[in-house]
Amino acid sequence: MKAERLDKLLSSLGYGVRKDVRSWIREGIISVDGTRAVSAAQKVTPDQVQVEGKALDHPFGLTVIYHKPEGAVCSRKDGGRLIFEDFPARWVDRKPTFSSIGRLDKDTTGLLLLSDDGQLNHCITSPKQHIPKTYHVTLAEPLRGDETTIFASGKLLLKEDDRPCLSAELQIHTENQVSLTLHEGRYHQVRRMFAAVGNHVTALCRTDIGTLNLAQTELAPGTYKTCTADALMTLICARIQE
Ligand code: URA
Repeated sequence: MKAERLDKLLSSLGYGVRKDVRSWIREGIISVDGTRAVSAAQKVTPDQVQVEGKALDHPFGLTVIYHKPEGAVCSRKDGGRLIFEDFPARWVDRKPTFSSIGRLDKDTTGLLLLSDDGQLNHCITSPKQHIPKTYHVTLAEPLRGDETTIFASGKLLLKEDDRPCLSAELQIHTENQVSLTLHEGRYHQVRRMFAAVGNHVTALCRTDIGTLNLAQTELAPGTYKTCTADALMTLICARIQE
């Protein structure tokens, strides 16, 4: 484990700027190996440090499984309700940045992953990894009958795109309730695919990312759980790796 300056460590974990760390040291709220910290410049490893008697907040990486609620925006400073309001404020100030792995539209609900691990982000979003994503879709109009074939064809060219969508699987629940599994992630893709077949999406929920299923997480909208990047990859790729 690499030792680094106490002030640099705490500011990278979002505790405050270096000046704050100096004043907390003076106040005596930071300890290193159980004794009062003496200097902002002292070299420490994260497991040695406590702030107000508590171990540091996810010092070895932060990865989150979140149930995105309707109306929350996947942005740091857009107007309106932000997904980041559902997490401790400290996480937003972490470096490397804690960000969502891909995005869901404001009105889309369901599984959203967030992490400060750039490699994990790349791994989950890269089309080369073939991690399918499934959406439960409520439609304004009943299905007309040819959607399964059109979506599976690999030939559906959406407005303003320069190449057709990859083949996608449609599972029909009722005449206006379906699940759609995609193998890529384009802007507003599900809504645009249904618009291309003359329909309109009235509700959209991402239910699965690989083998990770929203219902199995038992997360209520707006809540989350943390895990390690490795544990997340195991949850997502459970059956894919077999
Ligand atoms: N497709 C959409 O149209 N919206 C999302 O949020 C995700 C996929």
